[in-house]
Amino acid sequence: MARIFITRRLPGDPVERIAREGHEVDVWEGSMPPSREELLARADGAEGLITLLTERIDAELLDALPGLKVVSNYAVGSDNIDLDAADQRGVAVGVTPDVLTEATADLAWALLMAAARGIVPAAADVRAGRWHTWEPQGWIGHDVYGASLLVVGAGRIGQAVAKRGSGFAMRVSVADVGDDLMAMLPEADFVSLHVPLTDSTRGLIGREQLQAMKPTAILVNTARGPVVDRHALGEALHGGWMAGAALDVTDPEPLPADDPLLQAPNLLVVPHIGSATQGARAAMTDRAVRNLLAGVAGEPIPFPAR
Ligand code: DGY
Repeated sequence: MARIFITRRLPGDPVERIAREGHEVDVWEGSMPPSREELLARADGAEGLITLLTERIDAELLDALPGLKVVSNYAVGSDNIDLDAADQRGVAVGVTPDVLTEATADLAWALLMAAARGIVPAAADVRAGRWHTWEPQGWIGHDVYGASLLVVGAGRIGQAVAKRGSGFAMRVSVADVGDDLMAMLPEADFVSLHVPLTDSTRGLIGREQLQAMKPTAILVNTARGPVVDRHALGEALHGGWMAGAALDVTDPEPLPADDPLLQAPNLLVVPHIGSATQGARAAMTDRAVRNLLAGVAGEPIPFPAR
């Protein structure tokens, strides 16, 4: 029997499934993540953890949990985990790939469409009684069908977004590692980010890149907040270097209510909901539990982080 700590309540029946295998399961019941101290205290003695992207799993934490065999992250991303430190200590790390690809690509597409057509401010105008008549010059957005789309990141989600672009007869380019982004950005009407957060993608979209974009371009980020320099993004939106941005992810998360970026014009922000569909989240639970059970049994985990 192993001791398992899950850092939040998850959809589905992870506790029952893990308990059925004879393990002792403890779940953090708070609606906010455990603090570092709470995490260290509750994970004490655990052989397996199911963690979220809100938990930092680093060498210090791994050293404090010498019996730990597996960290099963409830996410496809693993940038909250020091993978080298885990490898060095023989701790397996699992993630939940594939099952959230289409949900996240759908959300990227919804953001792109919403930003292009000004859906959120238009709907707010209706509720506020500002819809007086059909407006030949009001609520004018950007054309999506037939426009050019630059997908940054050639992984599963990037490819799924590129497919959606083809369905809209867009001229689609996909920038892979090593491609010259500065040459590709000036051509794009829409730029959608789908790279993992690593040392080389942190700040990938900064002042220079934003300035290279068309003044009519729209940026969509459903990857990780720190991929975009948020100060530069605020400057770009205020300065009209680009037409708008739609973000599912920010740096930090959440943005403080008084963060100047939130005052930027033509900015749409939603609270990191890329994988938030019933199907995707249930399937993520399934993969997280399978990773955990394999890891505590000392077997190869089905969905390793790398
Ligand atoms: C992930 O899986 O990495 C997302 O950001 C959360 O679903």
